Amino acid sequence: MSKQTIQPAKHITGGVEPPGDKSISHRYAMLAAIAEGTSELRHFAGAADCHSTLDCMSSLGAEVKKDKDTVRVTGHGPRGLKHSWRALDAGNSGTTMRLLTGILAGQEFTTKLTGDASLQKRPMGRVVSPLREMGADIRARQDNYAPLEIRGSKLHKIHYKTPMASAQVKSAVLLAGLFADGVTSVTEPARTRDHTELALEEFGAIVEKQSTTVSVHSEISGNGGKLQARSVDIPGDLSSAVFFIAAASLLPESALLIHNVGLNPTRTAILDVFASMGATVQVTSLRSAHGELVGDLSVKSADLKGGIIEGDQIPLVIDELPMLAALGPFTEQGIEIRNAAELRVKESDRIAALAENLKRMGATVDERQDGLRVEGRKAGRLKGAEIDTREDHRIAMAFSVAALGADSPTVIRDSDCAGVSYPAFYADLNRVAER
Ligand code: S3P
Repeated sequence: MSKQTIQPAKHITGGVEPPGDKSISHRYAMLAAIAEGTSELRHFAGAADCHSTLDCMSSLGAEVKKDKDTVRVTGHGPRGLKHSWRALDAGNSGTTMRLLTGILAGQEFTTKLTGDASLQKRPMGRVVSPLREMGADIRARQDNYAPLEIRGSKLHKIHYKTPMASAQVKSAVLLAGLFADGVTSVTEPARTRDHTELALEEFGAIVEKQSTTVSVHSEISGNGGKLQARSVDIPGDLSSAVFFIAAASLLPESALLIHNVGLNPTRTAILDVFASMGATVQVTSLRSAHGELVGDLSVKSADLKGGIIEGDQIPLVIDELPMLAALGPFTEQGIEIRNAAELRVKESDRIAALAENLKRMGATVDERQDGLRVEGRKAGRLKGAEIDTREDHRIAMAFSVAALGADSPTVIRDSDCAGVSYPAFYADLNRVAER
């Protein structure tokens, strides 16, 4: 059982570069494995989740070579994947399991797909249901949970209206659409991250977009765009950068540069939330990389106001909510999160994990079914505590940042789980934290 002790800090200074974006790395790895030729994926995420995806693609017959943070993946076209005798293991990664299920549904073989204890508790019915509408044959434990048995089938095009705003559900249907008999489209109730659409275009698929509907042409029916290997640079992960934005904002006299951060407009709602709370984050050297926007961020300490996060904002900042909630006690008005029941089915029940650990640090918290309210600094300064991360990477990192502003040391239990998205997190945090 790994443990990290986080000492309080005075300021945050210097520079940091977050690891390659997790969402983009998953998509490039999967598309490279079904494209023709060798793709070079530079600044590939060190995240354990993305290495689960690489291992799955390798078990399915793609050749994967790793050299530091460059990964070369050789694919043999959309019909080039091969049956794996071993069950594939998605580890802790919901994105691996949900997106890969879309690809596997349209193969000519059967695949078993499983994951760790946390992933086996997360709902898969949300992808199984639209894929069945396309003709997929998928068996799931209690019809909703991994292990999954995906018996490859002939898929039909559909127009799917997603009942929930989920990029993973949209992506599973679009990826299955590559193996369907025509043009498959998805309409979402609210916008979600569009990395799948951009990555499909980058690798040569034909994609059409109109407001909240996106369509993809089949790759196997002869009218598709032909997926081709690509050499791509992956931007740093804004969802990882957020821990440093929060740390530099909350500690006085801080000034931090965060280099090479992905600034896709479907991910930057978090910067608007920080701005509305009074944070000082400036974007510099905005540039484009393979359809994705990238820039540097300059962050200075600020007097954080706090506020309410709700409604259509929620899917756009879903991964950043743990950090925002843990910032609550450092703000003037506190932080309230509403309409975010989805947080209960992430890598852990994040609402319960946040409420429990914030209380351990002495915060005043009202836990609700679909969110929580965390009182601001008038309720008192946080004290050091022992944090039960529930082996959830974002809980571990959010409380490591809150610990910097506490009045005594904090122990993060099972701290290694940060490696699910950010293996060098503690080293980077210690480098920029002045004590
Ligand atoms: C992701 C989508 C989000 C997010 C997850 C990554 C993706 O999940 O929480 O960390 O890469 O598509 P949902 O689609 O379930 O909201």
